[in-house]
Amino acid sequence: MTIAPGLAGIPVATSSISYIDGNEGILEYRGYRIETLAERSTFEEVCWLLLTGEMPNEVQLAGFSSHLARHRQLPDRLVKMIEVLPGKGHPMDALQAGLAALGMFNKPPDFRDPNEVDEACVKILASTPMIVANFERLRTGKDLVPPDPELGTAANFLWMITGVKPDELAARVFDIALILHADHELNASTFTARVVASTEANPYTVCSSAIGALTGPLHGGANEEVLDQLEDIGAPANVTKWLEAKLSAKAKVMGFGHRVYKVKDPRATILQELARQVFERLGSTPLYDTALELERQMKERVGHRGIYPNVDFYSGIVYAKLGIPADLFTPVFGIARVAGYLAHWREQMQDNKLYRPSQVYSGLHELPYPELAARA
Ligand code: CMC
Repeated sequence: MTIAPGLAGIPVATSSISYIDGNEGILEYRGYRIETLAERSTFEEVCWLLLTGEMPNEVQLAGFSSHLARHRQLPDRLVKMIEVLPGKGHPMDALQAGLAALGMFNKPPDFRDPNEVDEACVKILASTPMIVANFERLRTGKDLVPPDPELGTAANFLWMITGVKPDELAARVFDIALILHADHELNASTFTARVVASTEANPYTVCSSAIGALTGPLHGGANEEVLDQLEDIGAPANVTKWLEAKLSAKAKVMGFGHRVYKVKDPRATILQELARQVFERLGSTPLYDTALELERQMKERVGHRGIYPNVDFYSGIVYAKLGIPADLFTPVFGIARVAGYLAHWREQMQDNKLYRPSQVYSGLHELPYPELAARA
């Protein structure tokens, strides 16, 4: 048997949800290019697209959006649970715990009943931003902000964490950021979702497990670390020395590199343009110039190895400008990616086979049992 560390390049599922060409820098959801969706679509439309495989018509979109708005309500006891979580703990842990607990308030959907499946998807999509927003308000000792049914998912989240209605640009930029993060074929957390789904676990458990996988710095957690890294570098003039130290220590530069893309991630290109627009309106951030210089020098040093900015490189700079605290960057990724997890849950359940890979055993056999007193 040969092993493929990290399952790199090993297909483990057939999927029609998203498509990546890592050499050409192409990403599509259900056949639509990410650039087109970012320009013309909304997060709600993209959720419907991922879940059903089709673009919603006007009636379907209006119904789905109001259905989501109606479900922006957490059980009181779940809010109490969120309130007693340690405020200094990471919001990703609160989100993972919140999603798992949400499942305790809801009957697991019968997968053979499409209405129950749809209802569970809407409940999870609508509740995920609520869990994050409520945790943010409660840990900072602020009153909860009631959801506004007139607002879409993106604008409502910004409203609920800041208590200020976002302007059109902020709401649209954040909506696009959610679109960009909604799915990305078999990344580590979506693979986790599919593995858990394959055990026939309920979708609340599927999503909370996947959120756990998203926390790590090699995956979603990188977006928070990128901002720390840029702050650590400081001015653009410091990039050369900082980068030399990193690369000679063989350390990873956060926000660069990807298992699949060998060119610049198309989502990073879109986010960079969004950063430009936000800065034009709200004033630039010194760290943006540091980011540009880091990208330039990384291209010179490691571009030939296919290490380019990924989705996490510019997202934090944009989020920070929208007033989102740095430790909510990864939960924001999760708010969007839950759409993908649910689409993969549905797809997995249509033709389920339990994931159970094999291994190459490298341990010992048939050892004599050592008496406790005789052990070294
Ligand atoms: N900085 C410096 N060197 C890198 C980087 C980086 N960001 N990424 C890869 N390399 C080097 C790595 O050191 C290794 O070098 P060598 O062959 O000399 O040992 C080589 O490239 C292959 O790296 P790998 O980690 O084995 O490759 P992978 O396909 O597993 O990498 C990755 C994918 C995302 C884990 C990696 O690029 C990485 O750790 N990047 C930094 C963390 C990050 O930005 N994560 C976000 C990923 S995209 C969004 C998401 O999934 O959430």
